Amino acid sequence: MDYFNHHQGRLMAEQLDVAELATEFGTPCYLYSQATIERHWRAFSDAMGERPHLICYAVKANSNLAILNLMARMGSGFDIVSGGELARVIAAGGDPAKVVFSGVGKTAAEMRQALEAGIHCFNVESEPELDRLNAVAGALGKRAPVSLRINPDIDAKTHPYISTGLKQNKFGIPATKALAAYQYAASLPNLRITGMDCHIGSQLTETQPFVEALERLLALVDALSECGIELEHLDLGGGLGVSYGDEIPPSPAEYVAALLPSLGERQLTLVLEPGRAIMANAGILVTQVEFLKQGEDRDFAIVDAAMNDLLRPALYQAEQQIVEVVKSDRATANYDVVGPVCETGDFLGKDRTLAISQGDLLAVRGAGAYGFTMSSNYNSRPRAAEVMVSGDSAHLIRKRETLEQLWQGEQLLP
Ligand code: LLP
Repeated sequence: MDYFNHHQGRLMAEQLDVAELATEFGTPCYLYSQATIERHWRAFSDAMGERPHLICYAVKANSNLAILNLMARMGSGFDIVSGGELARVIAAGGDPAKVVFSGVGKTAAEMRQALEAGIHCFNVESEPELDRLNAVAGALGKRAPVSLRINPDIDAKTHPYISTGLKQNKFGIPATKALAAYQYAASLPNLRITGMDCHIGSQLTETQPFVEALERLLALVDALSECGIELEHLDLGGGLGVSYGDEIPPSPAEYVAALLPSLGERQLTLVLEPGRAIMANAGILVTQVEFLKQGEDRDFAIVDAAMNDLLRPALYQAEQQIVEVVKSDRATANYDVVGPVCETGDFLGKDRTLAISQGDLLAVRGAGAYGFTMSSNYNSRPRAAEVMVSGDSAHLIRKRETLEQLWQGEQLLP
């Protein structure tokens, strides 16, 4: 459910007219809906009810300061994967005590930064990482809070690039080695074991793989308890899918309801790290048609947004809906919607039925997560502006990059 709907043939972002916003802020431009973000975040938090929990929004999905600040104001925690994301969370007013730090390759400098900030926990992915964290914490005279990321070897049934919980993936510690890894962690003086985590993949459209992963983790939690290692929290990662087209993923309420029975009476705090489910449908990418071009084989709508602005179609063959911002009674035709970047893989959508002419505006839906954060300056294209809509007001939350910013930090040879 989002707040981007056509009203009398014109696409609205909450109460504002998207075509007018495009005139004001230019294209390509990301538009976000504050009410949608808040609604999605609260859907997770409400689903947890009285159960002790922490929602750690996955910053990588969209790390704009205004968005992190919005999450912080709702009381959100954050899942980060770099020192850069931690710095953003702090700059946005987020509480470091609600931050979990994921990722397979944390540097010593990032560990120091996070220990000094006082984060909730490190989601550790290997034994060498335990050693490094133990050494860094020791040098600072601190004990680092640790969760071990378990790879439960579960098929998340999603795109192979965003599937992370299979034994052939680089993530986590194999479930078969988990007990030994916990015992090793317990032997290190500067670590404090607090939890267990996993993240089996992204854009999951069924609850069953999550429940299977949870049950594998709970078996380990119980086995640890028998060895005298008691955990405070269990972190199931992110991964709940969204509807980009025909998918009907479970709602946050259905997802949480599927998890709770397995937890039973265990007094563990449940941590979730949703990214996409909060942000994807809270954002659209608005772009203008530069040219319509008839090829021999197919027709192209050449637009002013490209793979550098929205990489998902090129990288994952992801299908995101593309709609006319202003509906018309023009004849429809089938177009490949492509950008100006010099790559055949530069498309936003293929074979789309659209009623458009040169100069018209299109909106790519589902662009709020892994849209701007994966954008680049490829082909020396300044990154797009980002705008937050709230009711009948709009705020520029990131200026369009200028040409000078493109070579900021570069130097001519002497
Ligand atoms: N926690 C961890 C440890 C993760 O690795 C991820 C995502 C999340 C949470 C958030 O997952 P979500 O709730 O958003 O599914 N660029 C890809 C998605 C990559 C996801 C990577 N990890 C895409 O555009 O589809």
